[in-house]
Amino acid sequence: MFLRPLTSALRNRLFQSSRVCFSSETLRSHGGLKDDDRIFTNVYGQEDPFIEGALKRGDWSNTKDIIDLDREWIIGEIKASGLRGRGGAGFPSGLKWSFMPRISDGRPHYLVVNADESEPGTCKDREILRHDPHKLLEGCLIAGVAMRSHTAYIYCRGEFWHEARVLERAVAEAYEKGFLGKNACGSNWDMDVFVHSGAGAYICGEETGLLESLEGKPGKPRLKPPFPANVGLYGCPSTVTNVETVAVAPTILRRGPEWFQSFGRKNNSGTKLFCISGHVNNPCTVEEEMSIPLRELIDVHAGGVRGGWDNLLAIIPGGASVRVLPKRICDDVLMDYDALKEHQSGLGTAAVIVMDKSADIIQCIERLSYFYKHESCGQCTPCREGTTWMWKLMQKMVTGEADVREIDMLLELTKEVEGHTICALGDASAWPIQGLINHFRDEMESRIKKYKRAALAKERRIEAQRRPPQFQNAHAPV
Ligand SMILES: Cc1cc2nc3c(=O)[nH]c(=O)nc-3n(C[C@H](O)[C@H](O)[C@H](O)COP(=O)(O)O)c2cc1C
Ligand code: SF4
Repeated sequence: MFLRPLTSALRNRLFQSSRVCFSSETLRSHGGLKDDDRIFTNVYGQEDPFIEGALKRGDWSNTKDIIDLDREWIIGEIKASGLRGRGGAGFPSGLKWSFMPRISDGRPHYLVVNADESEPGTCKDREILRHDPHKLLEGCLIAGVAMRSHTAYIYCRGEFWHEARVLERAVAEAYEKGFLGKNACGSNWDMDVFVHSGAGAYICGEETGLLESLEGKPGKPRLKPPFPANVGLYGCPSTVTNVETVAVAPTILRRGPEWFQSFGRKNNSGTKLFCISGHVNNPCTVEEEMSIPLRELIDVHAGGVRGGWDNLLAIIPGGASVRVLPKRICDDVLMDYDALKEHQSGLGTAAVIVMDKSADIIQCIERLSYFYKHESCGQCTPCREGTTWMWKLMQKMVTGEADVREIDMLLELTKEVEGHTICALGDASAWPIQGLINHFRDEMESRIKKYKRAALAKERRIEAQRRPPQFQNAHAPV
């Protein structure tokens, strides 16, 4: 049963909500998150990441009271907060958690935390793992209760050796304190958490590829349906969800969905970890309000674009798998799901990759094409063959050795791959190229023309050298 009025009162008694803002959508500008409103207060590792530090930061406080309010309440509050998955697709988290079967058929339920973090440009989950691991573990217990799961696996990217060790130590501390294990936090709920290291493949971040890998098989994504909520890990109901999504849940429940909703525009609520890299003065990961203007995010937190804003060429706003945006859109676009979607791009993992005018945008996208070709698991023909073709064509675009009509052929090829594959890696390989063609076609065409001019001039030079000496200085025919 959904007990909103009673539980809100109870929450007010239990917890202090420092910011409840019902301001009108139109009157509000977004950004400038106050320190009081930060969920991740140890994102830079300045404090103790382990249990003593975590307790000081308020983790594991009143966890039992939250769990006692029951799973429907937890899911209701997460739904009300408007939290959308932080793994890239932005699917509403409360709804996703509610897909787990309500009545058990005897199979165990599994919570699987996606800590693969292989999306180029993305470096937020690792900060949680190594600097604030108890937020994630408390989130595992709460999400586990909501999903009727007694077991959580945290699937860590293979290269995260240090992070996995920190996490393992935090897990051991949580067991020692009675926060995990039998009767976790005195809640009458048994919860085990296992840390599992992958072998370091991008495709193992895709949720069903991850499940395969966790089962000890090659990380090849599964056809859906059936969806993991029905047939997931070891054929049992499972939910795969991102580190940040799980780690923010305890704070949302403590401070209330209205508090979380008060950040960002409608349907884009909350605070968010943004990772800013590339041609900025101070690359960083920072927690900010959703819907903050992209320019403000970069100027305030990343020290601005190298050489000033006018030196900006383009930005990929959500990790490699979204379409690149030219400066004129970056000037005033907001960093949220809907605003970026309006420009045919996406918030993705909120990894902002900045390129100034010194960047060769065609070469940058070609490098991403190589990445997708390399990471394709090879199961579906459009992805396996398409990523290779796209990369080969992109190489020709870099040198200009292509024909202008091949730009449209390349675009057509991306459309043949997009939406025709088992998993979203196919789409991810197509979108950066589509963004390039959409916004930088002129640049591609002029490079091809330049190459042709240079080739013609070279041909004429060679031809002139072949002429008998008495004619060598004569002008070549036009
Ligand atoms: C090729 C590929 C790689 C992915 N890598 C990751 C990843 O490293 N981490 C992650 O959380 N989600 C990744 N995802 C998204 C997951 O499939 C899944 O949507 C996500 O973990 C769900 O979590 P959320 O609901 O909390 O967003 C990837 C998806 C694809 C198609
Ligand atoms: S889209 Fe690519 S990566 Fe995904 S299953 Fe098909 S071949 Fe594998």
